[in-house]
This record gives sequence, structure tokens and C-alpha cells, in this order.
Amino acid sequence: MGGQVLRLQDVAVRRDGAALLRGIDWTVHEDERWVVIGPNGAGKTTLLQVAATLLYPSEGQVEVLGEVIGQTDVFDLRPRIGLASSALAERIPQDEKVIDLVLTASYAIIGRYSEEYDSNDVTRAVELIDMMGAAHLIRRRFGTLSEGERKRVQIARALMPDPELLLLDEPAAGLDLGGREDLVRRLSHLAQDRRSPTLVLVTHHVEEVPTGFTHGLLLRHGSVVAQGPLDHVMTADNLSRTFGVPLTLDRSAEGRWYARAY
Ligand SMILES: Nc1ncnc2c1ncn2[C@@H]1O[C@H](COP(=O)(O)OP(=O)(O)O)[C@@H](O)[C@H]1O
Ligand SMILES: [Mg+2]
Repeated sequence: MGGQVLRLQDVAVRRDGAALLRGIDWTVHEDERWVVIGPNGAGKTTLLQVAATLLYPSEGQVEVLGEVIGQTDVFDLRPRIGLASSALAERIPQDEKVIDLVLTASYAIIGRYSEEYDSNDVTRAVELIDMMGAAHLIRRRFGTLSEGERKRVQIARALMPDPELLLLDEPAAGLDLGGREDLVRRLSHLAQDRRSPTLVLVTHHVEEVPTGFTHGLLLRHGSVVAQGPLDHVMTADNLSRTFGVPLTLDRSAEGRWYARAY
């Protein structure tokens, strides 16, 4: 067990009288790979925004990378945290080239640039794009990419500043079956690589949980249903309670999960 990357104590988030999150206690250690699973509206994105220091909780204490939020300058913390989400993807200019999009991540900006890039940065960007299976797309403009290609490029971008924590909000959303399987396989490799940052992956499909992920937090109506090592958390009973429907759960020989209603 490595150091603590995230520590939430009794965290609540309220907006316009609605409790988006409540009573969240959650600790993530360095070498862990977490999935956050829950139905639409459960509060998954809200939880990720708290972890990304983009949202300050209404109650409770949040520690990210050893710093207490509210007692530290979040602008020093944010470069140490990678985030990929569809909300961020929408802000990417359509005419941005893939290589530039990944390179500019070192400078935490989106859009056209005038900086001179270090050749080490260029090498790293190319390696990350290649690792995500997008080497052939390097000169393409973001707007011309398929949904799956966009997700992979976005993850390369999020990895570019070598973050200590990588947060992925529904990276497989909108992908076709082939695209999903390709992404899940790459995330599985990332999870199993000891040099990877601490990972937190949000999804509402258990089929999207890559092998190599170690822990799970199940969320419903802003509260934790269960959390801990995936082997303990992933039960038909826990998932049924999380999604509010009776579910059966199977696991393949490779360690992938499959759920269906009965
Ligand atoms: N500004 C807001 N005011 C009130 N409710 C909100 C606001 N933003 C989000 N919500 C609600 O909070 C709940 C949790 O949202 P979210 O974290 O995006 O869930 P998830 O990512 O699990 O789908 C949803 O029911 C959503 O409608
Ligand atoms: Mg969401």
C-alpha cells in the first residue's frame, strides 16, 4: 500500500437544495486502480470533480496528493492531476491537430500555441499517442476523429504532464463495441503498468471495468453502497442495490464482469 492520493472524510456536495453527494468517506492509495460505478445521476461526475479540485465540497474534508483542499493553492495541485471527460472534450477546438493537443497539455492550455516545444516533450507526446493506438492520427485534426479516436487522444493528453492521479469520466461512453473493447484493453494495460499514475475510472457499465483495476466504489443517489477491493464489492446483491434492479453478475475467465437483469 503506497501513500494516500485521495482522502475524503464525510464529504457532502449540495446544489440548490439537492444533495449530490453525502457522507462520502473514501481513501485511495498510490498503487490502487479504482472504478466508480453507479447509475446516471448517482453523483459520479460530481465525485470526480471533487477529486480533481474543481468542486469544493459543502461539508467534510478533502485531501488530494497530501494537500488539504481549502488550505492549499489548487493551482499548484491541478497540474499533478489528469482528467479526461466529455465536458472537457467539448472545449477542444475542432481544428486542433492531435499532436498539438497532446503537446499543449504540458502547458495546461487548449488551443493554438506559440511556444517552442522541447524535443523531449515531442518524443513523449508521440509515445503516449502511440501507446493509445493513435499514432496514425498524429497529424489529423481533432474534429475529424471518430468518438473512439477522440477518447484515446484525450487520454494521451491527460497523461502528458505525467500526473500522479488520472481521473477518467466514462471514457467508453458513446463507443461502438469494437471501440469499447479496444479502449478497455488499453486501460487494462495502463492499470497493470506500475509506472502509471493512480487511476480512478467512472462508468455505469460493469462490462467496461478493465482487468487490472483493483478497487471499486458503488454509488447510488449520492451515497456509497459499497467500496473496497473489487473481489469483495462486485456482488450481484451490491450491484442490484446500486442500480435499483435485480441483477445477476458473471465474471469471465479473464476477469471481466457481465451483469444482466432477471
Ligand atoms: N447544479 C445542479 N443543481 C442541482 N442538481 C444538479 C446540479 N448538477 C447536477 N445535478 C444533479 O446531481 C446529480 C448527480 O449528477 P452527476 O454527478 O453528474 O451524476 P452522474 O455523473 O453519476 O451521472 C444528478 O441527479 C444531476 O441532475
Ligand atoms: Mg457523469
